[in-house]
Amino acid sequence: MLIIFVDQWKFCHYFLSMKAIMRIENLKKNYGNIEAVKDISFSIPEGTCFGLLGPNGAGKTTTIEIMEGILSPSGGKVYFREKEIDNHFKQKVGIQFQSTALPEFITVRETLELFRSFYPRPRSLKEIVEICSLSDIIDRDNRKLSGGQRQRMLLGLAIIPHPEMVFLDEPTTGLDPQARRNFWNLIERIKAENTTVLLTTHYMEEAEILCDQIAIIDHGQLLEIDTPQNLLTSHFNGALVRVPHSGRDDLKLDNSILQGDFFEITTKNLDITMKELLALKLNLEGLTIKKPNLDDLFLKLTGESLRT
Ligand SMILES: Nc1ncnc2c1ncn2[C@@H]1O[C@H](COP(=O)(O)OP(=O)(O)OP(=O)(O)O)[C@@H](O)[C@H]1O
Ligand SMILES: [Mg+2]
Repeated sequence: MLIIFVDQWKFCHYFLSMKAIMRIENLKKNYGNIEAVKDISFSIPEGTCFGLLGPNGAGKTTTIEIMEGILSPSGGKVYFREKEIDNHFKQKVGIQFQSTALPEFITVRETLELFRSFYPRPRSLKEIVEICSLSDIIDRDNRKLSGGQRQRMLLGLAIIPHPEMVFLDEPTTGLDPQARRNFWNLIERIKAENTTVLLTTHYMEEAEILCDQIAIIDHGQLLEIDTPQNLLTSHFNGALVRVPHSGRDDLKLDNSILQGDFFEITTKNLDITMKELLALKLNLEGLTIKKPNLDDLFLKLTGESLRT
């Protein structure tokens, strides 16, 4: 326990001592009566991958688009390197939108060359092709790209200006597991160049693997912000045991919550928990034991699964 505490403290201290590349302060956005973003503040340390997580309609795209300077906020401020963002800021960042229309009837090569012509000091075509693994599709018409190929190409467009930071809004949604993993490698490559990444995703595994820090938002509000490991250790005390209640949902079990047809019990001592369950003569068929992950955390915080 002491070790966990010391580790958490080290992590917190590490992030607090890092220079923030971007900071938002009391951000709000209303669309008529809809409060899409309600007073969100956080900062992103330079060179890290920061994950913005939340279910559909949580306010991720609204938040990220305000940070990109695409949308104006109803309240609050956005700072890049401690200066309020202006038009100059847009030359220092790369953006991959949640959905982007690509020019039709031209190839990947022609598209990259077209976008390169918009910048004073663009990255070379060779380098973009190499980083984003585009050589096999370089002469393919944009209309003939698969989902994964399209996302790789869009990332290529985002990194043209040697950005100090990239914004990736759900870049892996809809990709098959293999294409998603390939995309994670590209993000790791970009991070290795000390480029800061702001990523939104619905995939907990992705966030756990890629992100140094995670902000969980729901209904436009920030619920939690920390490293994936700290979020898990602060919310879950050991293993998670799920056992069907078998019609005995009125039982009062220590450290348990009722989730549908199951009791979910968090325990530091599996041995004792199993003995207690046996003593209660609960039907243990269908019992599962697992290490809690961010999906479980999301369920605990919001009462819903992140991918619904
Ligand atoms: N232009 C708009 N006009 C009115 N309401 C909007 C507009 N854009 C977003 N909203 C609303 O604001 C809320 C937040 O939307 P947002 O797109 O930021 O969510 P999100 O977290 O990105 O969701 P998703 O995971 O589906 O992409 C939603 O209720 C949405 O319907
Ligand atoms: Mg969105």
